[in-house]
Amino acid sequence: MDYKDKLDKTNIPQHVAIIMDGNGRWAKEKGQMRLVGHATGVESVREALTAASEIDVKYLTLYAFSTENWNRPKEEVDGLMDLLVNTIANEIDSLNNNDVRLLTIGNTNDLPNSCRHELLNAIKRTEKNKGTVLILALNYSAKLEIKQAIKGIAEKYKKGEIELDEINDELIHEHLYTAGIPDPELMIRTSGEIRISNFLLWQLAYSELHFTPVFWPDFKKEDLYRAIYEYQTRERRFGWIGEQLNELDKND
Ligand code: FPP
Repeated sequence: MDYKDKLDKTNIPQHVAIIMDGNGRWAKEKGQMRLVGHATGVESVREALTAASEIDVKYLTLYAFSTENWNRPKEEVDGLMDLLVNTIANEIDSLNNNDVRLLTIGNTNDLPNSCRHELLNAIKRTEKNKGTVLILALNYSAKLEIKQAIKGIAEKYKKGEIELDEINDELIHEHLYTAGIPDPELMIRTSGEIRISNFLLWQLAYSELHFTPVFWPDFKKEDLYRAIYEYQTRERRFGWIGEQLNELDKND
């Protein structure tokens, strides 16, 4: 089925987040090193980004490296960092040609120098682009993000800059890495795992979740369109009942 043509263009999610999973298993199935899976996964990053841009998804967040991923064998961690540095360096022109802006979330200060340098350069060189914003979650942990937000807010309270009852959803949002970015309406995880794995715990509170058995290196544009098509068939109720939402629609 051609899902792209079936999409309701008036109901495209503004923000799609993806847990790219299954690179290792994809490689194992092919008798290859795990790093071959990651390198092939870069092609899928390109597919997902192009697909998102074509239908005007404004934000695409990709979980590229978690704080837990440092525990992997050194060879794999080094390989992933090299892949990241080389990919960013090679893709800057293409990002600019496609009006894509790059941002990161996570504790990127703790990434290797070469990686930080390449990322900062790409962020600067794409900062004026107005199309899709590609957000890479790097050295990311949602629990750490929430902990840092709590500390920031506690500091302000201690200094008398805020009152207790000023601590609300908006203030918390402003203290997250994703300050100013709308929460994802849709989160996709590949490879058949049905977990959130410490990804955007605050931001996913009301997101629709889509789990696909496809390994990340096999993920194609059509897989993104299919996930969005299925998202469009769901009713997002935010705790309301369906009839209440129908009434609201009538009054629009
Ligand atoms: C998960 O598969 C994937 C990762 C931890 C890394 C994702 C990185 C890339 C796709 C390449 C670089 C990305 C960019 C943005 C340039 P896994 O290794 O956990 O697979 P497994 O569960 O099958 O072992």
